[in-house]
Amino acid sequence: MDGLGIDIGGTGIKGAPVNTETGALTAERFKIATPHPATPGAVTEVVGQIADHFGWRGPVGVTFPGVVIDGMIRTAANVDHSWLGQDAQDLFSKRIGSPAKVCNDADAAGLAEMRYGAGLGKTGVVIMVTLGTGIGSALFVNGVLVPNTELGHLKIHGKDAERRASEIVRENKHLSWHKWAGRLQEYFAELDALFSPALFIVGGGVSEKSEKFLPLIEGIRAPLVPAAEHNEAGIAGAALYAETQS
Ligand code: BGC
Repeated sequence: MDGLGIDIGGTGIKGAPVNTETGALTAERFKIATPHPATPGAVTEVVGQIADHFGWRGPVGVTFPGVVIDGMIRTAANVDHSWLGQDAQDLFSKRIGSPAKVCNDADAAGLAEMRYGAGLGKTGVVIMVTLGTGIGSALFVNGVLVPNTELGHLKIHGKDAERRASEIVRENKHLSWHKWAGRLQEYFAELDALFSPALFIVGGGVSEKSEKFLPLIEGIRAPLVPAAEHNEAGIAGAALYAETQS
């Protein structure tokens, strides 16, 4: 079955139809820059334009970079705070004219990795971490998602982990790969100690360059592997989420 997946990110909002059997995008991805300020009205319009671009009628999944409970936005660390308390599911469904399902962005990426990518067939506790504007997390127990875990906000040296170790911090502070890997090592050591996972999957766009930093992270008991779908996992996972919710 095909579903439309739309991934709302800090820099771009992108979408594509997805074959949910295989996770493959069935048309070229369409991307529009994230509006600033990224208010509910402005973002909803862009989400609608992406659905219009594909002339879409049918299941739609949309990711959001915050806690999402029953389609409602509960946190907005890196997006406009006017999202708090908004019914994103209702806003998107009305604009698109088809029922939309909304979930956390890292949860969507994790769903795609568990179904089609680096987590395929993995049992026990698996943690997906996405490195981007923030740090996102998705926790799986025997393949079942525990939603909205928000492990990017764990405190490391008294500071939100994502304020020390996200990809945007690496870029803005011009951290060397070595220095950044040191910060990630502290972060993964903390996750390892708290959850004893069987596997860490590391995603976000920068995971395409995983050979530059993953080998520098040492002393973590659970293996760290790059995401197979890198930055497209959010789109595939959004479509998958819509399918499981309808
Ligand atoms: C948000 C998470 C999100 C992550 C990645 C964090 O700041 O709190 O909900 O998954 O950024 O976008």
